[in-house]
Amino acid sequence: MRKGIELYSFKEIERIRRACQIVAEVLHILAENVKPGVTPWDLEMIAREETKKRGAKPAFLNYRPPFHRDPYPAALCVSINDEVVHGLPKKDRVIEEGDLVSIDFGVIIDGYAGDSAITVPVGRITEDRERLMRATKEALERAVAKAKAGNWLSEIVETIHSTAEEYGVYPVLRYGGHGIGRKVHEEPFVPNNRKDLGKKDVKLRQGMVIAIEPMFALGTEETIQDGDGWTVRTKDGSPSAHFEHTVAVTKDGPMILTEI
Ligand code: MF3
Ligand code: CO
Repeated sequence: MRKGIELYSFKEIERIRRACQIVAEVLHILAENVKPGVTPWDLEMIAREETKKRGAKPAFLNYRPPFHRDPYPAALCVSINDEVVHGLPKKDRVIEEGDLVSIDFGVIIDGYAGDSAITVPVGRITEDRERLMRATKEALERAVAKAKAGNWLSEIVETIHSTAEEYGVYPVLRYGGHGIGRKVHEEPFVPNNRKDLGKKDVKLRQGMVIAIEPMFALGTEETIQDGDGWTVRTKDGSPSAHFEHTVAVTKDGPMILTEI
């Protein structure tokens, strides 16, 4: 352990990968079920069932993250349009054509965790929303490519932030990625906005496993907390997108664990 950052062996990374593969499979099924008329709670039920089938446990359900007072009450975060992250899956919200539905999901199996998120467009979406999605996906891809031993964490942050600028969208403040492995949230914090970079940088080393998760919004980097205590929204009501992969820093470079 170095500065509180865990380093994982090849064998352990294989176990993290098992968790990540289940996350990817379930997210794939969920994406196919995102349609007008479906509620976030319907997706929650599918996620629980598909996780159980695979012998895993939802990582977020009843888990108290380090940034919150209370345990999270669901397996999924479903964040629609102006909801950025940690959206509580509701029974009374209906998904509609044109929506951007972000689904964030994690599992634990055999003592190891995996975490991933996707944003699914519902039917036809506006060009602005299309650009926002492309920017966020592109930022994740470019950031993953930087997850190499010897690179600095700040290079990942800079890549994410500058990709947002290139597309004319905003990297939200205060929320970001994290180390992951035996626990869902480990050191280091991986900001999306360069204003959130601390004074100390972190050099990436072989054996680190991090979740990289750009969250971009169309009109602002500022967010507000919804009255439900969890859901985070954009301050200006503009839509947002979120993509996340769990990535291992290996001797052969970055390895995306949450890709099928
Ligand atoms: N991927 C999200 C994150 O890292 C999932 C958190 S869910 C919660 O913040 F349970 F921790 F809320
Ligand atoms: Co995460």
